[in-house]
Amino acid sequence: MSTLIRFGISLDHELLKKFDGHLYRKKYASRSEAIRDLIREDLVKDELVHEDKETAGAIVLIYDHHQRQLLEKITDIQHDFQPLIVSTQHIHLDHSNCLEIIAVRGIGRNIKQLANNLRALKGVMHGSLSLSTVGKNLH
Ligand code: NI
Repeated sequence: MSTLIRFGISLDHELLKKFDGHLYRKKYASRSEAIRDLIREDLVKDELVHEDKETAGAIVLIYDHHQRQLLEKITDIQHDFQPLIVSTQHIHLDHSNCLEIIAVRGIGRNIKQLANNLRALKGVMHGSLSLSTVGKNLH
């Protein structure tokens, strides 16, 4: 159990008013709670900058499965990066389009490489990567 420490923050009146509005909209019980969340969020972002750290997240792809050999290429790439992949979910959106959600966990740099290889394929219309920390150092 870590110790709680109180500290004062000097803020511009207008900024504090905006912040209190933000707390109200987000239903925070106190300023302390909101500030804790902001600090954690910033620490997560900073941790993500260090590409040599363990991260977890999801790659989301939308593609046209009629594109020649695209399914084979997507499968080949996933086999090449198999240690990073926790699970893959495939959803048939309509006659042509597929949505694939790939849950990943591993070193940030390698996950980014996997996402880039998939996004670069012809026929992949949208590809996003959402990475987070595994959170070991945030408690
Ligand atoms: Ni499909």
